Amino acid sequence: MQTLDLNGPIGVFDSGYGGLTILRGIRRLLPQYDYIYLGDNARAPYGNRSFDIVYRFTLEAVNELFARGCPLVILACNTASAKALRSIQQRDLPEIDPTRRVLGVIRPTVEVLGKLSSGGHIGVFATPGTIASESYNIEIAKLYPHFTTTGQACPMWVPLVENEEAAGPGADYFVQKYITSLLQADPQIDTVVLGCTHYPLILDKIRQYMPPHIGIVEQGNIVASSLADYLQRHPEMESRLTRGGAVEYLTTENPEKFNHLARMFMNCDVSASRL
Ligand code: DGL
Repeated sequence: MQTLDLNGPIGVFDSGYGGLTILRGIRRLLPQYDYIYLGDNARAPYGNRSFDIVYRFTLEAVNELFARGCPLVILACNTASAKALRSIQQRDLPEIDPTRRVLGVIRPTVEVLGKLSSGGHIGVFATPGTIASESYNIEIAKLYPHFTTTGQACPMWVPLVENEEAAGPGADYFVQKYITSLLQADPQIDTVVLGCTHYPLILDKIRQYMPPHIGIVEQGNIVASSLADYLQRHPEMESRLTRGGAVEYLTTENPEKFNHLARMFMNCDVSASRL
């Protein structure tokens, strides 16, 4: 599939809606480029799925975005970044097309922790799959070997957001529960990472129950700055990106259903097509 002269949009992939919080941050900083967002809503959530399955689904999505002309694909999903990114980068890309790139959201998030954390005690909220992969612990240990990282799986937060209950009274119980459990595991935590794309939508409740001295790290702007930096350092990739400011939304599920919930994530109207 190697196509050295190919120009096209930036592909943004997520298991469903969550990557829209990343796309929002990226578009705020880099509105000039064209984007294709692909949500695999028909097979979401990925959070509880095994490594093999997340890898297979993610590779299919990357190939789809490549076939639509994207020279660069962002895995805007922590679970896919945790379970599929490395294999795709190391095993698949060299065969598919070594001139294209696939980037994830975990490494850029980890990179900023050195500046944000005062005491080196990090808490990570994420899906069960991301926590089980230990990707955050591994990446943090590589960059900051003296840091202590404690993960907390939050299996109920994605369903709360997707059922539009993030602001409802039912959310209080599960927000409190996971915060309490994390702080019991490490009472010295000074910074928590929202390591799942849905969690910015439950941020008000998280703030309500989180001790105020603890910093909360959201990914949208961080991933956007990291991408801007990447494109500056890689003019050979930047020059392959088309600049029309357009976004195409694709979903593997029903587009009307996607449009309804996508509005909540993007804060604007979205018109998706079925893949
Ligand atoms: N987008 C996923 C993530 O960031 C959350 C939703 C899912 O479990 O598929 O981990």
